[in-house]
Amino acid sequence: KPVFDIVGGLKACREPVCISDFENHAKEFLPKNTWDYICSGANEGITLRENRCAFDRLRLRPRVLRDVSSIDMSTTILGEKIDFPICVAPTAMQKMAHPDGEIATAKAVDQAGTCMTLSLGSTSTIEDVASSSSGLKWFQLNVCKDRDVTIDLIRKAERAGFKAIAVTVDTPYVGRKYAEIRNKFALPPHLTLANYTNETGVKSHYASLIDSSLTWDLIPWLRSVTKLQIVLKGILTAEDARLAVQYGVDGILVSNHGGRQLDTVPATIEALPEIVSAVDGKCEVYLDSGVRFGTDAFKALALGARAVFVGRPVLWGLAYQGEEGVAKVLQIFKDEFKLAMGLTGCCSVQDISRDMVAHEMQYS
Ligand code: FNR
Repeated sequence: KPVFDIVGGLKACREPVCISDFENHAKEFLPKNTWDYICSGANEGITLRENRCAFDRLRLRPRVLRDVSSIDMSTTILGEKIDFPICVAPTAMQKMAHPDGEIATAKAVDQAGTCMTLSLGSTSTIEDVASSSSGLKWFQLNVCKDRDVTIDLIRKAERAGFKAIAVTVDTPYVGRKYAEIRNKFALPPHLTLANYTNETGVKSHYASLIDSSLTWDLIPWLRSVTKLQIVLKGILTAEDARLAVQYGVDGILVSNHGGRQLDTVPATIEALPEIVSAVDGKCEVYLDSGVRFGTDAFKALALGARAVFVGRPVLWGLAYQGEEGVAKVLQIFKDEFKLAMGLTGCCSVQDISRDMVAHEMQYS
């Protein structure tokens, strides 16, 4: 049951109808420590804001009279079918948003027919998440200083049937989020980082684990220890995209970590075109950071992404109603994406083309 009848301060609106309704609910409902943890951006939040503004600066160029009576949103990522190209990004410590945490997310994502990326920093174990649903799952990895710890995590993900490893490469150090520093952020004592020890001193623990000496040699090393497909999460330049292709990765997730790492890097939708062009079809390209509407996903696909991933909206869904809340968030994304396809004259994702998006400057 929803905790609040009042969503977004609008008494008349009892059921959320858009993603910001879930956000507004979460802001009222969650403890400040949790809300700040979820919503903060690094430093002044310039990239955090740009992630939204850059989407809003793009205009859609719809085509008409193209028989859109039947719309197929399905596609594949790394050879696996998904019902619509909006997947779930890894976010750590989901039990802070709802007691069912990652298990609730996995069930809702499975029902929606898309892909869940489980964070290494989850508050449920890899095994528990895997056994809670049979849906498509990727595992997000930060490579640890102790490579045996990393190998152990990869083996768990392999055994649990995860299809790919999303290696986060934009976090050799953790970004500065003012609110978290002020709040002296800590995982509530009843929760643990389930994939490692019974550790609760998250920040220092995390920092002590992360290997900040990684280089591109990481990729052949990963290939030597696992047959799982490899996606690099956190690429923002054509230069690194070319290297990623050279090193033979299977996918690139264009991400600025939802504006949480290095402030003033570009919005991902603005970085996407140079990366798509550099990759030239040699691996799949995805995008996250700031996706809040079906039209955002549409714009990303038009500019060459194969799928998008969403982070915070899932946590807001969890905070609203656990599994059902996440299901509702995903349903809104699905409905909005279908509408965007129908209203632009697209019956399949292959119909979504580059000329369907233009910068607002083109109209001024
Ligand atoms: C994240 N993100 C993240 N990324 C990652 O690789 N490992 C992680 O454990 C986490 N944890 C995490 C926690 C929280 C609270 C947030 C908001 C984000 C980043 C995440 O995968 C993704 O890149 C962004 O969330 C995408 O931006 P939006 O959709 O939140 O705007």
